[in-house]
Amino acid sequence: MFAGVPDAQLEQIAKVAFQRRVPRLTTIVRAGDSTDSLYVLISGGAKVLNSDEEGREVILTLLGPGEFFGEMGLIDGSPRSADVMSTETCELLVITKNDFKRCLAENFDLCLNIMKSLVRRLREADRNIESLALMDVYGRVAKLLLDFSEEERGERIIRRRLTKQDIAKMIGASREMVSRVMKDLENQGYFRVEDGRIVILEKRVPAPGAAAARP
Ligand code: CMP
Repeated sequence: MFAGVPDAQLEQIAKVAFQRRVPRLTTIVRAGDSTDSLYVLISGGAKVLNSDEEGREVILTLLGPGEFFGEMGLIDGSPRSADVMSTETCELLVITKNDFKRCLAENFDLCLNIMKSLVRRLREADRNIESLALMDVYGRVAKLLLDFSEEERGERIIRRRLTKQDIAKMIGASREMVSRVMKDLENQGYFRVEDGRIVILEKRVPAPGAAAARP
């Protein structure tokens, strides 16, 4: 978010921002609330989710260090669009609405960075709609694992701890179905679990859409 922002501007932002520490499983932002601040994750992790009256949840995305949230309400003045809940202890940088608007007005790089992030989120949302509409659960699980994996010494590894429940809430399937599909994918050699991390066996991962051989 702050990439390319000149030092003088960064100093100004540092003066108006304050730090806040929140424990795991704290709702930092609640859907429907009026907006007052923008948050930057310094450390820790959070999930962006929506739920219905029966308590069923959909996870829109997972956020990690360096990412920000709460900008949507500040930009268009609408209430918060989703809940944001910490998945671990978080160190946050908080910038109030008025300070954020003043920073935006004074800094084009900051505006551009925010716009780029919004475009990236729209692209991700488009890809998610596509996979929900066109893929079965095998394809959606395979795509999600690939999306969350990162290159590390020639291997694709998922560093983030992903529970089956979280995967289910991200791809619109039941936890039981996700467990079954992951077991099949692991048994067929598409990935292995090593020290609690998922290592994707790249050459064997099916192209999204093609998915694994169904049992
Ligand atoms: P706001 O609507 O103010 O409060 C909820 C926040 O969740 C929202 O701003 C965004 O920062 C974030 N958010 C909502 N939808 C998504 C999404 N699809 N991807 C990433 N972040 C999101």
